[in-house]
Amino acid sequence: MMTAETMRLTLRRPDDWHLHFRDGAMLKAVVPYTARQFARAIVMPNLSPPVTTVEAASAYRDRILAAVPEGADFTPLMTCYLTDEIAAEEVEHGHREGVWIAAKLYPAGATTNSAHGVTDVANLFPVLQRLEKIGMPLCVHGEVTSSDVDIFDREARFIDEVLIPLMAHFPDLKIIFEHITTRDAADFVAGSPDNVAATITPQHLMLNRNALFEGGLRPHAYCLPVVKRERHRRAVRAAATSGSPKFFLGTDSAPHSRHAKESSCGCAGIFNAPFALEAYATVFEEEGVLDRLEGFASLHGPAFYDLPLNEGTITLERAPVDVPASIPVGDDEIVPFKAGEMLGWRLAD
Ligand code: DOR
Ligand code: ZN
Repeated sequence: MMTAETMRLTLRRPDDWHLHFRDGAMLKAVVPYTARQFARAIVMPNLSPPVTTVEAASAYRDRILAAVPEGADFTPLMTCYLTDEIAAEEVEHGHREGVWIAAKLYPAGATTNSAHGVTDVANLFPVLQRLEKIGMPLCVHGEVTSSDVDIFDREARFIDEVLIPLMAHFPDLKIIFEHITTRDAADFVAGSPDNVAATITPQHLMLNRNALFEGGLRPHAYCLPVVKRERHRRAVRAAATSGSPKFFLGTDSAPHSRHAKESSCGCAGIFNAPFALEAYATVFEEEGVLDRLEGFASLHGPAFYDLPLNEGTITLERAPVDVPASIPVGDDEIVPFKAGEMLGWRLAD
């Protein structure tokens, strides 16, 4: 609800339905930014080595919890990294134990630390059958990987070549088409049954592909799936702000150190956790639908995952906030999304 006099916006506490925390010093540095804004987050398993066992996921969850600042109330929701070899029993076991909330499909070679991902979805059929049976959701990085497919077309091609056949085989499987970037994906999800939803990042709402080349090569605008043409950005914005329960917040915040980004082979990933909610609020305000931000950030995700809504609220106020040029991590630093720019919303204390 917003009161015009104070320009404050109070929402039920939100969640981040797609996030990378990493490990070690990076983990310690980045967890507080997410815990400051979100009650829960779905944590991606693409560590090196990837999180493919219940034991590894449980230990990783403990390391995350140890990095949550004193007094913060934050719950990490863990995911299982699917490989060609993973056993359906292990996946189900972790879900029944309450360790894994969802399984993650990375096509092999699609993105950061996806080398152990799935080479052919056919290899996963026993696992997908099990997920469908036990009601465990599948998070999907939706891009084909072959070098003869243009990188800007990889998401759209994934829909036809992988997703539609997969949905035909497993019609009741809950699928989250993650970090959608195209009109094709937005339209596809909107037209799919209720067991198919999508997450949307701040960068895919705010940037088009010109951002990659604005005055020179811009590694900090590089993520996967790569940002697309303006018409796709507009379609993704329309989906996010439509009020449809099929679309919800997933930042895909993916920290890499400055030197790993500013390199002859820069890593994919945008670290947007420090001002994620502020960025989404900016978009919803620009679209004139601030009243729909709560659904996107706090209601649609739990409804899809069959989880309770969070208790408590968070308040944003209409006031400028300066995004720092960089954020320290041990001896290193990370350049956040919108570094050095100003956003129009800030979290109230
Ligand atoms: O840009 C990305 N970065 N996309 C992904 O899918 C993975 C992520 C990462 O882990 O860095
Ligand atoms: Zn991701």
